[in-house]
Amino acid sequence: MIIHKFENQQELNEAGAGIITALVQTKPDAVLGLATGSTPIGIYEEIVKAYNKGRVSFKNVRTYNLDEYVGLPDGHAESYRTYMNEHLFRHIDVQPERTRIPNGNASDPQEECARYNRELDEIKQVDLQILGLGHNGHIGFNEPADELHSGTHLVELDHKTREANARFFPSINDVPTHALTMGVGTILKAKTILLVVRGADKADIVHRALTGPITTQCPASLLQTHPHLIVLLDSEAGRNFV
Ligand code: F6R
Repeated sequence: MIIHKFENQQELNEAGAGIITALVQTKPDAVLGLATGSTPIGIYEEIVKAYNKGRVSFKNVRTYNLDEYVGLPDGHAESYRTYMNEHLFRHIDVQPERTRIPNGNASDPQEECARYNRELDEIKQVDLQILGLGHNGHIGFNEPADELHSGTHLVELDHKTREANARFFPSINDVPTHALTMGVGTILKAKTILLVVRGADKADIVHRALTGPITTQCPASLLQTHPHLIVLLDSEAGRNFV
């Protein structure tokens, strides 16, 4: 595990974007595992800048997102498809059909999970998986539980997760109750994992996840077992790390 701590957000964003663009420069058909939420936005902005400067092309890249809410209508401002289009895809030359996100409106969510799993099995391995971290230790939407799922599955969101995400919706009642998420088995299969954590409110959970016991009650703690884990922390999230 390599942990980098940054004094300011801009340095962190540039470092995160640098890791991703360097991969795509050396492997133009790389498979990227992508996350949403507030954490990666600055990194995506830096990727777009590098693309605009002609430093990198995403023409042959494939992307697989971690998760999607269930039941938000197509084009909903808070769907993860809309998020990805707005923050990254529409600004770069990635081919829209090569950007994959679980379909949260599938009539049969279980079948949609099985379909997404089949696609992920076909690509064999994600080259680089970007992750944020939930306040309860979730990765993707794998919430703390006695048992975790390996593959993509339907999940009921924790009240804490819905509270945290209520800032993007008119009220907590508008936050979907369910989501489709890649499982921890798929996440851990990625060749390299880039975990990004910002803010004082995540200082304790990121420290527990990376140095505490490995337990399904803190899904991110399983990342300790990954052979190529890179962690980017801002100074607040990293205050428990020397
Ligand atoms: C998003 C995702 C979630 C977020 C996590 C942190 O695709 O899978 O695990 O990474 O909830 O969210 P933010 O970055 O908004 O604090």
